[in-house]
Amino acid sequence: MQLVALRALQTGHLDALRTLCARAEEVDGCAPKIHWPLMGLHNPDILHVLALEGEALLGLASGLIFEAGTLELTCVVDPNHRARRLATTLVERLLEQHSDGVTTLCARVPSTHTPAQEWATRRGAAVTRSEVTMRRSFEGDAGAPWGDALSLRLATAGDAPALAMLDAAAFGTERGEMRRRYQKTAGDPDRRVWLVEREGAVVGKLHARRDLDGTVWIHDLCIDAAARGRGFGREMVARCTHALGDGALRGPVDGVWLEVNADNAAALATYARCGYEVAREDDIYEIPISR
Ligand SMILES: CC(C)(COP(=O)(O)OP(=O)(O)OC[C@H]1O[C@@H](n2cnc3c(N)ncnc32)[C@H](O)[C@@H]1OP(=O)(O)O)[C@@H](O)C(=O)NCCC(=O)NCCS
Repeated sequence: MQLVALRALQTGHLDALRTLCARAEEVDGCAPKIHWPLMGLHNPDILHVLALEGEALLGLASGLIFEAGTLELTCVVDPNHRARRLATTLVERLLEQHSDGVTTLCARVPSTHTPAQEWATRRGAAVTRSEVTMRRSFEGDAGAPWGDALSLRLATAGDAPALAMLDAAAFGTERGEMRRRYQKTAGDPDRRVWLVEREGAVVGKLHARRDLDGTVWIHDLCIDAAARGRGFGREMVARCTHALGDGALRGPVDGVWLEVNADNAAALATYARCGYEVAREDDIYEIPISR
């Protein structure tokens, strides 16, 4: 067996990874969370380590530097090659490549995936939070837009300061960094940022993006704290979802996906009211690093 470290997966690797994930899902009863490796992103913050036997892919561990010092791990091992320390070897190799300042290792594990839970627990890992993935399908209806209490429009580069302020208040993000991000992604045809106004003041925002694998996601929803609990979040999500079903992003849309912290009751209720259904639940483990 050979271990190969790569910054970007080639078409052949991606095909082999899709087959491996399908086999793992069949055996485990739930799909591994391998979303971003499967997209074939070229991103300097991502590194993959593959276990290959000839042409056959036996396993993969990918690491994404999510924020300074934190490596987000995703890993899958062929069911026929488990219990041979393959995951451990892959993760160790990944960490060797990141000897520079990675202090925290996090992994997303489906809450019904016993082998991965046991693997994480044996390494002394603990669950830090859980995350719900939801999906809204358009089968049967595109959904009538709900309410018109708010004025909804697409954000422009000039809205970056107002958007960054909403983010800082809702998520504790750094305003300068967020402003730069908005300015950088403004004009990307596969992204949209909507904002809602009431009596001339911005009271909320929601983002949408299409990933390289074609899936459409909404994210970074927030309503200004002073305006919460009045149906604005629900109206915004419903209207933006409707816009996505109506072609707001180029390309076909057969559903809209999102991820939300499992303890965020307000957001879960808001999305559920807009027709989103739980597709999966993952536990986020923090794994101690032994070097
Ligand atoms: C999530 C958020 C956008 C909701 O906005 P909002 O305008 O207060 O929501 P709404 O008033 O439209 O309420 C929508 C539904 O959620 C329910 N809800 C709202 N707050 C709730 C809470 N704290 N607990 C439980 N349910 C709640 C409402 O009752 C309503 O359901 P109903 O129509 O069945 O009564 C807002 O709380 C927020 O900005 N939170 C911080 C940012 C965040 O967590 N974003 C989500 C990231 S994924």
